[in-house]
Amino acid sequence: GIDIGKLRAQSGAITIDPGFKNTGSTKSEITYLDGENGILRYRGYSIEDLAEKSNFLEVTYLLIHGELPTKAQYDEFTGSIQNHTMIHEDMRKILEGFPSNSHPMGVLSSLVCSMTAFYPESLDPNRSWEKVNMSIVRILAKLPTMAAWAYKNEQGHPVNYPDNSLNYTENFLKMMFAVPAEDFEVDPVVADALDKLLILHADHEQNCSASTVRIVGSSHASLYASISAGINALWGPLHGGANQAVIEMLENIKADGGDVEKYIKKAKDKNDPFRLMGFGHRVYKNFDPRAKIIKKAADDVLGRLGINDPVLDIAKKLEEVALKDEYFVEKKLYPNVDFYSGIIYRALGIPTKMFTVMFAMGRLPGWIAQWKEMRENQEPIGRPRQIYTGHNQRDYVDIKKR
Ligand code: ACO
Repeated sequence: GIDIGKLRAQSGAITIDPGFKNTGSTKSEITYLDGENGILRYRGYSIEDLAEKSNFLEVTYLLIHGELPTKAQYDEFTGSIQNHTMIHEDMRKILEGFPSNSHPMGVLSSLVCSMTAFYPESLDPNRSWEKVNMSIVRILAKLPTMAAWAYKNEQGHPVNYPDNSLNYTENFLKMMFAVPAEDFEVDPVVADALDKLLILHADHEQNCSASTVRIVGSSHASLYASISAGINALWGPLHGGANQAVIEMLENIKADGGDVEKYIKKAKDKNDPFRLMGFGHRVYKNFDPRAKIIKKAADDVLGRLGINDPVLDIAKKLEEVALKDEYFVEKKLYPNVDFYSGIIYRALGIPTKMFTVMFAMGRLPGWIAQWKEMRENQEPIGRPRQIYTGHNQRDYVDIKKR
């Protein structure tokens, strides 16, 4: 029963912890993460089991509602998601207003935020949980449509409407890749690999974007506004943007002659800001259990699709050299999930600019679960403190005298 936060606030004592490296912001029942031992579980189920036996929408249900669904619950959940995949035609007009070279992450977060205008009832912080669940279904159903359309807009191509005879992942792939007047068949190897990737990204407890979603939602902002903020937090190269940065780094290394050792040296040089993208993790200081599963999936996909890509050869060489290098071993800098997800996305034909969007699609259930838990537990508004290090009081000086 002792509320340490309250006691500290009453005493005027403030803990400084930049980057919140050791500060717990909440109690949570959603995801268990043990960075030392490389364990990740959603609602108690191991990520290995879920990746092997479940599918993305079942994992989504689990994260948001706390239990694996019965067959009836699963059918109702997936059915209602399939019924809401269309997006309002006026949202298409918003999309068309973006320059065609817009980054799809900016387009996606804007379209998600625009849902507050198309579904204004979502702004009511006191509505029933039944209505909140409807908002949840809507965003789960529409995000793949918005994501695929953001890509089509970037390409300057016409958009594809959802095909509700397909499952979540297949429908997304069709909206992304189908071209007018050409038949389109979803490759099951590609759909399977993508589904697995989405599961592995579905939640990761109080990371930068989940904390953003919780803190925005803590002011009772709507689910859509909170998720839009989470998408923006994910965009940065130190978080979800790392998967795009990985491939860009590999392409640069290739363009520069493919000398992997030279870049390892650069990453170790403290006077050089260069870091090996896709290596290291704030929490996993041994290995990232998702990276293990995904590495195997990457090997499978590359083998089964028979892909031959010099950029991916550089990735393999980099992994090999870094894993033996004293600096990386000593600092426990292992390839993280983004290193391999970038590789798989490239092999699946997903363009580099869309990588972080793929991460956002995967992370959506986690953000929703985090937002819902924060509201259900009636957490207070997030409002960190600071230690002021600026000037003492100063007299105003007229502009002519400065
Ligand atoms: N390349 C070279 N050196 C590195 C790297 C890297 N990728 N990552 C960490 N280091 C070094 C740091 O320079 C630091 O060295 P020092 O102790 O001599 O100063 C030490 O390792 C510890 O690094 P920190 O930055 O203090 O670790 P932190 O926990 O703050 O950062 C982070 C973790 C941001 C992921 C970092 O490892 C990084 O920038 N990696 C590259 C970007 C990346 O892959 N991000 C994806 C993260 S996973 C995700 O979002 C799903």
